[in-house]
Amino acid sequence: MKNFVVLISGNGSNLQAIIDACQKQSIAAKISAVFSDNPTAYGLERAKQAGIPTVVMQKTDYADNHAYDASLMTEIARYQPDLIVLAGYMRILTPHFVSHYLGKIINIHPSLLPKYPGLDTHRKALANGDKEHGTSIHFVTEKLDAGPIILQAKVPIFAGDQPQDIIPRVQTQEHRIYPLVINWFVKGRLAMVNNSAFLDGCKLPEYGYANED
Ligand code: GAR
Repeated sequence: MKNFVVLISGNGSNLQAIIDACQKQSIAAKISAVFSDNPTAYGLERAKQAGIPTVVMQKTDYADNHAYDASLMTEIARYQPDLIVLAGYMRILTPHFVSHYLGKIINIHPSLLPKYPGLDTHRKALANGDKEHGTSIHFVTEKLDAGPIILQAKVPIFAGDQPQDIIPRVQTQEHRIYPLVINWFVKGRLAMVNNSAFLDGCKLPEYGYANED
């Protein structure tokens, strides 16, 4: 059976959705380990409760990002994963790490990329007067939040919304679409070729599956 590792930094609600999908076999693979750069991430508890091995690596234990990622690669290699899933992982990976796993790392980002890469996406969407917001799943490449988009989900922004109103709306969509995309990958349906995402051999549009507007 294919296996993948999940990298987290926090609450791990996406991790929970992925664990649940594996248990229901709507993802045809198993999570071999969960990695966190934050020892107090609640996602670690979720992993333990599901009987998944956890690995905590704190950045203060390493001289720099390169040393950290070299060690992260060594630890990940123990599991020989088919895929690396970033689920609320807030460290920026080094180019060396990304190129080593190119085409095998996916990330979920809380905006309709290419809008709002980086942090504070919900506040930025509100400040910009946007009427919709959302989430994007993409392959990870060297440029932050700029790899080929696989799938997006949109949510409305209503008058008077605050970030705390939009965040759960976006996350509800994340929990629906991330397991789906992981399953596409482990079933061999999804690939990155020449910096484009392909599903079932067809190149996906710029903003991902079924999203050509
Ligand atoms: C998610 O909304 C995810 O899109 C975001 O962090 C949240 C993690 O929530 N990721 C990023 O901002 C990455 N740039 P979770 O820990 O409950 O899954």
